[in-house]
Amino acid sequence: MPGVVIVGAQWGDEGKGKVTDLLAERADVVIRFQGGNNAGHTIVRGDEVFKFHLIPSGILYPGKLSVIGNGVVVDPRVLLEELEGLRRRGISARGLRISANAHLIMPYHLLLDQAGEARLGKLQIGTTRRGIGPAYADKASRLGIRVQDLLDEKILRKKIYAAMEPKRQLLRPWAKEPQLDLHTMTEEYAKFGHRLEPHIADTARLVWDALDRDRLVIFEGAQGTLLDIDHGTYPFVTSSNPVAGAACIGAGVGPRDIDEVWGIAKAYSTRVGAGPFPSELEDELGERMREAGGEFGTTTGRPRRCGWIDLVALRYAARINGLTGLVITKLDVLTGIDPIGAAVRYLGPEGARFDEFPYHQSILHRATADLEEMPGWQEDLSHVRSPDELPQAARDYLDFVSDVVGVPIVCIGVGPGRDQIIWTEAGKRFAPLAA
Ligand code: IMP
Repeated sequence: MPGVVIVGAQWGDEGKGKVTDLLAERADVVIRFQGGNNAGHTIVRGDEVFKFHLIPSGILYPGKLSVIGNGVVVDPRVLLEELEGLRRRGISARGLRISANAHLIMPYHLLLDQAGEARLGKLQIGTTRRGIGPAYADKASRLGIRVQDLLDEKILRKKIYAAMEPKRQLLRPWAKEPQLDLHTMTEEYAKFGHRLEPHIADTARLVWDALDRDRLVIFEGAQGTLLDIDHGTYPFVTSSNPVAGAACIGAGVGPRDIDEVWGIAKAYSTRVGAGPFPSELEDELGERMREAGGEFGTTTGRPRRCGWIDLVALRYAARINGLTGLVITKLDVLTGIDPIGAAVRYLGPEGARFDEFPYHQSILHRATADLEEMPGWQEDLSHVRSPDELPQAARDYLDFVSDVVGVPIVCIGVGPGRDQIIWTEAGKRFAPLAA
């Protein structure tokens, strides 16, 4: 069985958690490779709704390893809260492993994230204010605190001191806050370390072992391709690499260990936070999508901006990630919308046409979507379980998307439930055994 990477092909919130959860049934290991608790995954199991920010979706299966890879930034307070939530619901977290090399989000990172946004004023990025950017910045500056540092209080104290010293000026408004006191912080984080210790491991080795035994490993991405710090709409991006290549770095495997790369995309587009969004619908139709799709952030509750599917951006995502399969989620949300639009190219203000995702931000910021319009459908899709039961218009829409993007569709989501999924011929070898 192969290594399969799951990535967001748009601006995040595409439904990666649900797809990972479905694939996890056949997997031995699910590993997250980047991001932190800026992500939010909702999984519906029967009447139960699970929301995770840090713990990989695989945790709901007993006997599997659910791993937080070295590329993730971990807020130990949030992680412990999630563990406590699982415990209260009687779910064992015995399979959780945390990379000793993952970096920690510290109290000052949260404050710096807020301060950074406030300083930017109108130019703010609209971050989740969870300290993600400042934690990755410290990692790159070699001032990060790692999970393994929690296990040695003396080293922990030294490293916290070294990390806070250069930030003294920026942190001045909070100088008297007890949470920034070196002694208090060291003690608190050392306690977190004691509680997390049973889960801390050499996770790259665990993944290697599973792949070596020919077991299925799912590499679970967070956010989406267009929020990638290198390939996204910089600076309106997150501080890590949500693209497939980062699975290797953030989990500690080689490129040859990856066999499949699935890009997850909604049947329309959404974006949280600021930044360009050429196919955005700032009208009643956008509002209707937001309501029908429940488009409010899992992490911050913010309303998501909505728009038509953007095939220019999806084609770009297919290329950057080397997608082998496309998952289209929330197709049911488009029911009753007629006609349905799809952005097939961008138009510049002077009439220039862009078939490819433009590299220059000035073009992207001013681009509008050139739409292909297709007939919609009225039928309720929530009970459909095979591609040929779909209305013709829905099939035509999916065929069009797949043709333009150049990637086969492997499955289609038609509702929030775990079973509300259609497996195509191209994807069904990964379907859960009962499907
Ligand atoms: P940060 O990751 O909190 O630094 O936020 C940077 C940008 O990424 C902001 O526009 C956020 O709204 C966006 N972002 C971060 N995580 C997610 C996510 O899981 N889904 C959607 N947008 C996200």
